[in-house]
Amino acid sequence: MSVHNTPQTVTIKTLAKLKAEGEKFSCLTAYDYCSAYAVSKAGVEVILVGDSLGMVIQGHDSSLPVTIDDIAYHIRCVRRGNVGSMIMADMPFMSFYSEDVTLKNAAALMSEGAHIVKLEGGAWLSETTRLLSERGIPVCAHMGLTPQSVNHLGGYSVQGRDPDAAQTMVDEALVLQEAGASMLLLECIPEELGERITKALHIPVIGIGAGAKTDSQIMVWHDFIGMWPGRPAKFVKNFLADTDGDIQAAIALYHSQVKAGTFPGPEHSYE
Ligand code: KIV
Repeated sequence: MSVHNTPQTVTIKTLAKLKAEGEKFSCLTAYDYCSAYAVSKAGVEVILVGDSLGMVIQGHDSSLPVTIDDIAYHIRCVRRGNVGSMIMADMPFMSFYSEDVTLKNAAALMSEGAHIVKLEGGAWLSETTRLLSERGIPVCAHMGLTPQSVNHLGGYSVQGRDPDAAQTMVDEALVLQEAGASMLLLECIPEELGERITKALHIPVIGIGAGAKTDSQIMVWHDFIGMWPGRPAKFVKNFLADTDGDIQAAIALYHSQVKAGTFPGPEHSYE
């Protein structure tokens, strides 16, 4: 089976149009050829090669050790399996600390087959976001729980519960949108804040543990198939368990539930 060199069919424009029309889209992580093919074939709009691979593929206890070469390698694998989804590449820890380093690393991932890069951080990334987007590299900002800052945050906990922190998150999301971000990913925040930010922005907002009101949802592949050996987070649902182990059916179920707004349910969301 060869699906090499298949043209990308989902673009930033596709996702912007979906948001404008009030339609949801789905995203999943993938790190290899076969899962990327299965995910893309099911119509999932965005595949993320996330730095979560540091934990689920490499077995580290955080995403911090992941390098740009690691992401580039998995982009190459995913690209060969992709049949029309947008491929999003994570910029790993400390891969965007200066203008030169950022441009070099983002360009490397785009050359390997990424269509957009994702950067963790708030308004302090506005100049970086502007720099990349003005040079033709679309940016997805990532706010809320940003795992690359786990040592600063003191753990993986829900963010934005305090009213001042929530307001700051809304303001910083608007700053990043103004700086040229094409999308925003929100991780682990109260559902109400996820809805507030989604309504405040015209760019598509993807959520993970951010409630049902964002424009899209994302899950980590190993959570999705129930393979992560640790305790699952509240926002995790094992879709494979619902389809008797049929992976293609599990992806189709996830895609349809995200589109219909029935996943995540209140049991997967934070107050
Ligand atoms: O690295 C990753 O997989 C992510 C998701 C948790 C959204 O950033």
